[in-house]
Amino acid sequence: MKFFAVSVVAASLLPSILALTVNTPTSLITCEPSLLEWSGGTAPYYVSILPGGDVSGSALRTFDATNATEYTWTVDIGADTEITVELKDSTGTIAYSAEVDIIAGSSTKYALFVASE
Ligand SMILES: *[C@@H]1O[C@H](CO)[C@@H](O)[C@H](O)[C@H]1NC(C)=O
Repeated sequence: MKFFAVSVVAASLLPSILALTVNTPTSLITCEPSLLEWSGGTAPYYVSILPGGDVSGSALRTFDATNATEYTWTVDIGADTEITVELKDSTGTIAYSAEVDIIAGSSTKYALFVASE
């Protein structure tokens, strides 16, 4: 009986010690907003965009620290680029998403931007 009571307490503590995880965005389209979401860990959070699968590579984008568990990123990286979302929490724990391919959007503004590069 005592063991049972202890188990219930341990289970109720679980949500506060969940591992830091970052969702892999379902699709990333140039010039379109994409919701990055994560859970677990301890705020504030530091989100970066790394080259796909290259966790020691330098970040392509770094966003301001946030206490929220989501961030809307208007994709400003060219199509056919593979990226990985990196999430660091205040304790220094780091989580990575799977690799995602950026897809070309239909925005002419972006086409002009590329043409002038
Ligand atoms: C997060 O919340 C803490 C405590 O309320 C606050 O001091 C800090 O400025 C917030 N950080 C950000 C990036 O909003």
